[in-house]
Amino acid sequence: MSESVQAATTDSIDQTSIDRRWLGRAAALALRGHGGAEPNPLVGCIILNVSGDPVGDGYHAHCGGPHAEVRAITAAGEQCRGGTLYVSLEPCSHHGRTPPCCDAIVKAGLSRVVFGCVDQDADAGGGQKILASHGLRVDHVPSSACDEVLSPFVWRKQTGLPWITVKWAQSIDGCIATRSGHSQWISGPSSRALVHRERGRVDAILTGIGTVRHDDPQLTARKVRKRRTACRVVIDPRAELPVDSALVRTIDEAPLLLVHGPKANRDALQLLHAKGVITHQGEMKGPRLCLQNVLAALSKKHDIATMLVEAGPGLIGPLLEESLVNEIAVFIAPLLVGDPQATPPLSGRAPADIAAATRLELRSRHTRGSDILLRYGVNPKSTG
Ligand SMILES: NC(=O)c1ccc[n+]([C@@H]2O[C@H](COP(=O)([O-])OP(=O)(O)OC[C@H]3O[C@@H](n4cnc5c(N)ncnc54)[C@H](OP(=O)(O)O)[C@@H]3O)[C@@H](O)[C@H]2O)c1
Repeated sequence: MSESVQAATTDSIDQTSIDRRWLGRAAALALRGHGGAEPNPLVGCIILNVSGDPVGDGYHAHCGGPHAEVRAITAAGEQCRGGTLYVSLEPCSHHGRTPPCCDAIVKAGLSRVVFGCVDQDADAGGGQKILASHGLRVDHVPSSACDEVLSPFVWRKQTGLPWITVKWAQSIDGCIATRSGHSQWISGPSSRALVHRERGRVDAILTGIGTVRHDDPQLTARKVRKRRTACRVVIDPRAELPVDSALVRTIDEAPLLLVHGPKANRDALQLLHAKGVITHQGEMKGPRLCLQNVLAALSKKHDIATMLVEAGPGLIGPLLEESLVNEIAVFIAPLLVGDPQATPPLSGRAPADIAAATRLELRSRHTRGSDILLRYGVNPKSTG
């Protein structure tokens, strides 16, 4: 390789790693929109001036509100001229609820746009061509950080299913409850506050009748600033939800939806209905509810893009078996239960050897008071 070719190659590698770093920052900004932007994608944007200094940033905060690019351009003002715009998703080219971002980018006088994910949407996509036709330099630099923040949106587009995060709190020796089913409280106040925060950002919280029976939870977001009110959904094939349960008693605080099978007690359903519970007869697959079809139907009918699962092994196991889980968040508390009959987080799997166990991808780890929070990505194809 000649010296000049080698220098050019090294320069472009350096530029790509610089671009990836800014795109990573844009992806982190995008996450701030969680709970406000959905069902739109989470998008973040950073603008550098002509000298390469950051002069403005923005994220998509509300569905129907200004896009990340427009917020960043507004923040940077005149300093956009000749600068570079980094955005996690290709700028949109269409008139939706807001005008096309491409127009705003051209008008702001930016000279380069770098984006992390191609917009596959038939209406909104194609922004890169439009920008290039106005003389801007446009680079698509694939970025795993940008892919990750966009994945809930892409998943729902491709499958019609909500993006599902399963959360549980466990002892160090892997128990989520004692053998009698007692579980309150395993994690500490700081972990529980984080769960309430997430409850105030998702569209739905899913549980099973087993958890209702043991814990009588409210599943509402308390003592946090809510960005949306999640619908509480109970998988209850025989409609056994007690009318005096905390879920029913708090019906004025958040909607409650019960998913039952065809053999559910009709009188019980009527009573629950009279209390304001929305009832949904789920599609069956043999003797059990077909969770995939149930979730797809709820996602479509109630516009549920994101769902938090707070359940026991009887529901978490089947959700994983049916490859419906996208992420797992585990709070590990400094507790030892020491009972092989205590409740594990999931059931139904019995791999003969470790190679057959489901391997997850560790996404992050944090300390919450005296607990540790581990977040894992689940590759749906690797489960079941
Ligand atoms: N530590 C934590 O973070 C945490 C969180 C929540 C719960 N928990 C603990 O978990 C325990 C409860 O666990 P659990 O397994 O009994 O309750 P669960 O997971 O909340 O609910 C299980 C119920 O869901 C039903 N179900 C699941 N898939 C179904 C399908 N495809 N069709 C029809 N029905 C379906 C099951 O029906 P079948 O009976 O027919 O299988 C069962 O009735 C409690 O001790 C609670 O304290 C701990």
